[in-house]
Amino acid sequence: MNNTESGGLPSHIAFIMDGNGRWAKKRGLPRNAGHKKGGDTFREIARHAKDCGIKYVTFFAFSTENWKRPKEEVDALMKLFSEYLDEAENYAKDKTRLIFLGDKSIFPREMSAKMVDLEKKSKQFSDFTLSLAVNYGGKDDILQAARRAANLCRDRDLTPQDIDERFFSGLLYTSALPDVDLLIRPGGERRLSNFLLWQCAYAELYFSDILWPDFGKKGLETAIEYYKGRNRRFGNVQGAAI
Ligand code: FPP
Repeated sequence: MNNTESGGLPSHIAFIMDGNGRWAKKRGLPRNAGHKKGGDTFREIARHAKDCGIKYVTFFAFSTENWKRPKEEVDALMKLFSEYLDEAENYAKDKTRLIFLGDKSIFPREMSAKMVDLEKKSKQFSDFTLSLAVNYGGKDDILQAARRAANLCRDRDLTPQDIDERFFSGLLYTSALPDVDLLIRPGGERRLSNFLLWQCAYAELYFSDILWPDFGKKGLETAIEYYKGRNRRFGNVQGAAI
């Protein structure tokens, strides 16, 4: 259920981790150094969100469009991701549920198998869920769900009228997650960049000029304070009971 009262904590926060390249350039470092530092920030923010009582966090780590980047950069991002998968083996003790959003079939078998295994092993945890979007695109997410719905109508006892909002949400990569309450995008740009298009329908949007590697605990706390001051109406009028 979404929060309509102002003052409450967001249940689900999504992050677009933008600005790694510029962070590195400002320091005369290669872009990949920015991604490495961005990876440290990702860990710091995930931990802090959990400590703040947030239940769901989702990070945009690699988009369906990011494959167009120079091979050296794609390889470096895959290496960071692969290292994280190894490290995430220890997350059971943190009682964190891990979910990987996106088409896993593009990754080497060993990597995709690790993702599936981590998802399976952590499924029992419900206090805190960390989702990582890799090879993810919002349009791709909606398309794959539409294809699945069409297949279900063809192969099962299902009619197009059965496909309502709730049913369709269950076919998205995010089927285990509630809609996004707060979307945070550091790095100066003010756009969604094909991230969680369906799931952000009523999200509050928070943009910051701070580059992702510098977006520390304080950045997260400021964004949560901003959210607490919002009045969410979901298309209704102010003060009406829903
Ligand atoms: C966008 O910034 C960032 C990315 C495409 C990659 C995000 C990945 C990480 C932060 C590393 C994730 C690591 C783990 C362990 C999951 P940009 O490089 O486009 O920034 P720019 O606009 O300044 O060039």
